Amino acid sequence: MAIREIIILPDKQLRLVSKPVEKVTAEIRRLAEDMLETMYDAPGIGLAAIQVAQPLRLITMDLAKRDENGETAPKPRVFINPEIVAKSEEMSVYEEGCLSIPEYYEEVERPARVRVRFTDLDGKVIEEDAEGLYATCIQHEIDHLNGVLFVDYLSKLKRDRVMKKFTKAAKRAGE
Ligand code: NI
Repeated sequence: MAIREIIILPDKQLRLVSKPVEKVTAEIRRLAEDMLETMYDAPGIGLAAIQVAQPLRLITMDLAKRDENGETAPKPRVFINPEIVAKSEEMSVYEEGCLSIPEYYEEVERPARVRVRFTDLDGKVIEEDAEGLYATCIQHEIDHLNGVLFVDYLSKLKRDRVMKKFTKAAKRAGE
């Protein structure tokens, strides 16, 4: 396994529409393992392949909660070609962040519950109902596969402000 570099706003690759994974090959498994390691290292709870510059419909996630001792048993999950097949009319609001938009958090409103269909690493097609943080996280990550970022849901004023901040920072880093 290896930690890969996470691309940061305003990297244009974040706007690509990722391609379906045709087959779960050894290469796909390795990518999923690397993404999990990269996500844990960051640390973050979800990562889309495009965030490590791979335009494939692949997501990793771990929403394991800390126990009373502050320790966490990892629950790594991999979603291949995930899609939302149903969503609730009821909405909920969560404060979101993104490893490609570091240290920036804003509240986003999304459907409170969704039904997600995906393929696992064994090539099995699975459908699950998601709610709470899981629902928010899977919607956020599937957005990445379509080139959509959580800042797209903010007011134009807020979005312009964050775009400007990261564009400036990228320029400074490149100087
Ligand atoms: Ni993100």
